[in-house]
Amino acid sequence: MNNTLFFVLAVLLCRPVLNAQDGLISNVCNRHTTGLSGSWQYIVDPYENGYYNYRWEPFDQMERPGKEAFFMNAKPDSPSDLVEYDFDRSDSIRVPGDWNTQKEKLFYYEGTVWYKKSFSYSKEKAFNRLFVYFGAANYRAEVYLNGKKLGTHTGGFTPFCFEITGLVREKDNYLVVKVDNRRLREGVPTLNTDWWNYGGLTREVKLVETAENFIQDYFIRLHSGDPARIAGTIVINGPEAAGQTVRISIPELGISTEVVTDRAGRAGFDIRSEKIRPWSPEDPYLYEVILETREERLADRIGFRTIETEGRSILLNGRPVFLRGISIHEESPLWGGRAWSEEDARQLLMWAKELGCNFVRLAHYPHNEHMVRLADEMGLMVWAEIPVYWTILWDNEETYRNAENQLSEMITRDRNRASVIIWSVANETPVSEARNRFLTRLAGKARELDPTRLISAALEQSAYRGKPDVRTIHDPFAGVVDVLSFNQYIGWYDGLPDKCRRISWVIEQDKPVLISEFGAGAKQGLHGDKTARWTEEYQEYLYEETLNMIGRIDGLQGCSPWILKDFRSPRRVLPGIQDGWNRKGLISEEGKKKKAFYVLQEFYMEKARDAAKN
Ligand code: GCU
Repeated sequence: MNNTLFFVLAVLLCRPVLNAQDGLISNVCNRHTTGLSGSWQYIVDPYENGYYNYRWEPFDQMERPGKEAFFMNAKPDSPSDLVEYDFDRSDSIRVPGDWNTQKEKLFYYEGTVWYKKSFSYSKEKAFNRLFVYFGAANYRAEVYLNGKKLGTHTGGFTPFCFEITGLVREKDNYLVVKVDNRRLREGVPTLNTDWWNYGGLTREVKLVETAENFIQDYFIRLHSGDPARIAGTIVINGPEAAGQTVRISIPELGISTEVVTDRAGRAGFDIRSEKIRPWSPEDPYLYEVILETREERLADRIGFRTIETEGRSILLNGRPVFLRGISIHEESPLWGGRAWSEEDARQLLMWAKELGCNFVRLAHYPHNEHMVRLADEMGLMVWAEIPVYWTILWDNEETYRNAENQLSEMITRDRNRASVIIWSVANETPVSEARNRFLTRLAGKARELDPTRLISAALEQSAYRGKPDVRTIHDPFAGVVDVLSFNQYIGWYDGLPDKCRRISWVIEQDKPVLISEFGAGAKQGLHGDKTARWTEEYQEYLYEETLNMIGRIDGLQGCSPWILKDFRSPRRVLPGIQDGWNRKGLISEEGKKKKAFYVLQEFYMEKARDAAKN
């Protein structure tokens, strides 16, 4: 064997392989990628017949899986050969996109669907590395390339990737993915939610090509509390990750500096600049940041700002800010399924801007990356959340690991986005010792991964000293979070809108307060007396009374009413009114605004005028 071939084999065989368990590749949208979006073949497999044999043994744990395993993408060898499936003669489906709104027979389907995509691949350079990257797959994905198992991912709203450098060939590659969206008691989220369980390859799938030793991840931000110091950490992945020289440039600031990675392939830097133009909703300024090694050049657009709390104030760049927010589910305003595209994101965020928002609460799970990148550009601060929602299995270690993994993937993907100011680790979770431990661990992990942002969660509120008309936050987790947030539905689930006039609030903690949800259902176009439920007038009345009430809450720093747009939920079945939709949107699923939209808009416009005077 000649030396070159030996060297090539040596590198191919000894290179570290990166997969979902080893962490993510950051900033995929600015790397060299080949999209695998478009038409894939699919097979509906409710009995998981393509994954288990008739003795319920998984094919992918066998030495040599037989043709019956769907991930083998087998064809009959002869007319007498038995193969009971054929991707290439099966129906096709669009990726990205949920299966529920693409295939009527799958509207309510919860189970396994197999996807297959064939592709060719020509390498541009001898030593590039190749990964297959998924923006998300809901809920559990088993991924195979050319019959080989790449790995598994659990969690429906965060990205993952697998290295395929040594597996991909010039022609006839077949990528097979088993996606199972069944809800699980031990899952995150668990069985009960108030949103549609959209299943499938719901976000983009790409081939990502990198250098042999590539910039896997980085975190570049203002030093907490010092608006003139840019701090950064960089991670190189590869057989020679140690001792790599990395040049960091921010041309507009005249910054260009070099660092050398340590034995773990990591390097940090700390740069002063008195010229930094801080990112803010009023001036969402982004800098081009360039990272270069001898093997590759990677650019990103990053905003620099500080976010902190001081007593009951939230300080953005050292100045108090009122969060004029709205909650948003990741549902397309254009065609009604799971949103995934830049166009979806732009429409949703344009509506938020039109409402007068400077803040969006992306409920109840990490949204697609277009949302946070556009929020950076459009000047909207972001509440980002993992789906630790309602009655999670708090004392199940695997459930905790799942939640922590989703948290890590969310933070790794988005911590270079200036718009993200709050990491939320839960929503409306019942208080218990096990729940407090679970959430406290998550908060600790979030602060470990990113000490620069605020931690919050929709906490439990209760009667103050037994007085039903005096509300307070007695949730033990209030002692852990930076921002006290809670959902309240006085006037919808609790009395009628006029009840808001009787309610007062006592907040005992010296922390900022955020009302993360309030709202009422209304069928767009249904009009009547303001005390008649489901009319636009009722919703409008609720908003008027609630905005007056929350104005009396000492330390209130913002609100994110529930919700921008009507969204699908299997819980909402009132004929002629809900028909499978949660109607608390300020905008209908057809994009028509309801009267309450203008009540909130006026409130925010006035808040913005007040802020401009200070
Ligand atoms: C809860 C929950 C939301 C839900 C809303 C509602 O506060 O956080 O996810 O959709 O109430 O009942 O409409």
